Amino acid sequence: EERPELFPFRGIHMVHYFTDNWDQVEAFQARPDDVVVASYPKTGTTWVSQIVDLMYCLDDPSRVHRAPIYERVPFLEMSKTEDFEAGTTILDATPSPRLIKTHLPVQLIPQSFWDNNCKIIYTARNAKDTAVSYFHFSRMNKIQSRAGTWPTFLEEFINGEMVFGSWYDHVRGWWDKKESQPILYLLYEDLKENLPREIDKICRFLGRELSVADKQKVVSQTSFDVMKSSPMANYSTCSAMDHKVSPFMRKGQVGDWKNHFTVVQNERFDEDYKRKMEGTTLMFRTDI
Ligand code: A3P
Repeated sequence: EERPELFPFRGIHMVHYFTDNWDQVEAFQARPDDVVVASYPKTGTTWVSQIVDLMYCLDDPSRVHRAPIYERVPFLEMSKTEDFEAGTTILDATPSPRLIKTHLPVQLIPQSFWDNNCKIIYTARNAKDTAVSYFHFSRMNKIQSRAGTWPTFLEEFINGEMVFGSWYDHVRGWWDKKESQPILYLLYEDLKENLPREIDKICRFLGRELSVADKQKVVSQTSFDVMKSSPMANYSTCSAMDHKVSPFMRKGQVGDWKNHFTVVQNERFDEDYKRKMEGTTLMFRTDI
């Protein structure tokens, strides 16, 4: 496969696939009860999407839950008119309350979400595991397949030459924005450490309540093993991915970076990290 061209776009790097319909993305009309699931790629987006969608389904049994995750929680940047009949997008046709996924950095979020005071759940994951996960994803994903070798990929990650831009800018931008907007900032490592506690946070943030039994259901149905074996969650029905190269539900662990980083790469990464993350109160664990 040819490596799709990465080019500068509004201050980040992008591939055409996500920018061709930019006018539409920018003019997107949010609804006040939209909930946005935002993240940098490979940080637990699908996991959080599955959690929140299950919560909604338990609340409203008429809600469709037997559909792939990318239909239940549509991807804002991929909601193209030509994907759908009669000039409306998949998101237009999604009944409220909608859950909407985005990987956009905070400064590129369509204005309508802020105007409508929409709640946003942002999930971040430590940089090293994110880089590793993104590397394997880039190998198996045909739309943005740009993996190359691990050393090259890691260097590009450090330089922010990734689809959706720099991890450092992304996590910092959203971290700062939560001071002024209704944003719940979750960490992948926290989800791994104590999922029930994080589900409580989500409930509180959304103003929802779950019975003990329902909460238990959400916990068990969003475990790595259950999601990995479910075609509705594991992207096995997505033609843009080649799971033989690397499964979408790959390892689901904290600390897999240790199997990829050499000592030299790790030292270089840490040194650069300090500089890029200087002055922020945002802290990550690379081990739990
Ligand atoms: P790995 O590649 O490290 O396994 P995203 O959904 O943002 O693309 O993130 C994908 C990453 O989240 C993958 O990481 C995937 O395995 C992990 N993941 C997905 N569901 C998970 C779950 N229920 N528990 C733990 N990790 C999960």
